[in-house]
Amino acid sequence: MPDAAFPRMLKTLHAEIDGWLEGYLKRLEQSPPIPKRLIDAIRYCLLAPGKRFRPALVLMTCEAMGGTRADALPLAAAVEMIHNYSLIHDDLPAMDNDDLRRGRPTCHRQFDEATAILSGDALLTLAFQVLSEELPSPRLANVSVRELSHAAGLAGMIGGQMDDILQEGKTGSLQQLQSIHERKTGALLRASVRLGALSAWNGAYDTARLAYLDAFAESLGLAFQITDDLLDVHSQPEQMGKATQKDANKGKLTYPSLLGEEQTRQELQTAFAKGLKALDQLGERANMLREALRFVVERDR
Ligand code: IPE
Ligand code: IPE
Ligand code: MG
Ligand code: MG
Ligand code: MG
Repeated sequence: MPDAAFPRMLKTLHAEIDGWLEGYLKRLEQSPPIPKRLIDAIRYCLLAPGKRFRPALVLMTCEAMGGTRADALPLAAAVEMIHNYSLIHDDLPAMDNDDLRRGRPTCHRQFDEATAILSGDALLTLAFQVLSEELPSPRLANVSVRELSHAAGLAGMIGGQMDDILQEGKTGSLQQLQSIHERKTGALLRASVRLGALSAWNGAYDTARLAYLDAFAESLGLAFQITDDLLDVHSQPEQMGKATQKDANKGKLTYPSLLGEEQTRQELQTAFAKGLKALDQLGERANMLREALRFVVERDR
């Protein structure tokens, strides 16, 4: 596939995802009593100009496994809701204390801390409301709740976020660092891939293909946080839409801080090669996933 095909595809999927999310928020607004301030804050964050990489990954995996994109849209939306809640809370003063996100003031800066906490809570809850009400079959709803709750929960994203904070100002081993990245970032990316596939299979587990997809997603998740760490060191806030050089300031355990830049780039290439290899058995239909991995490795925002 030519290089420009992936950004074009991402743009198309971004529009489809935002269309679904906007439609859903409008439906919610018609069922009062919902405080306008919360809907305003949720809309402000959820539809802000991020990449929509995770929900796009849900849709791309669904198609790669022979499913229909439209059927997977509620799953994509639920994943973006969880991601968004995690960003809102990650930026709070008690966590990373950031003022800029997606090129705009963070939620607690634009509104206030209470509104940011409650918006995050609402998005987390809404994600599961979407899974329970918007999917085509009870079986898919059931497995989706299981997949997403595990990925976002104690042994996944939340656990990773806790350990990320506990490690601040300390040195750690490569094994600890990898475990943090796999959970705080990798778990939700892996769930995006799994949910896309499960949507195509209407909730049935095709364990053979899922094993290849899992191996792919693990490499992709690690690569995603390695590039996030590298971009924090090298890029400008205007390009990223968020502050940079903040990891060193907070004493975060990151790939560049632990391994130095050269070895970090080698680890990134290793993850790239492993991720591509995992897709070998899935043939041409997985081409968009190959491009998604390349995008992660080469991204500049
Ligand atoms: C940022 O995620 C948080 C991490 C897990 C590294 P993204 O880089 O996907 O942020 P958006 O959604 O594009 O704003
Ligand atoms: C965030 O990691 C991971 C989650 C939000 C779960 P970072 O703290 O590195 O993300 P940024 O750099 O603020 O986007
Ligand atoms: Mg953080
Ligand atoms: Mg942060
Ligand atoms: Mg970061």
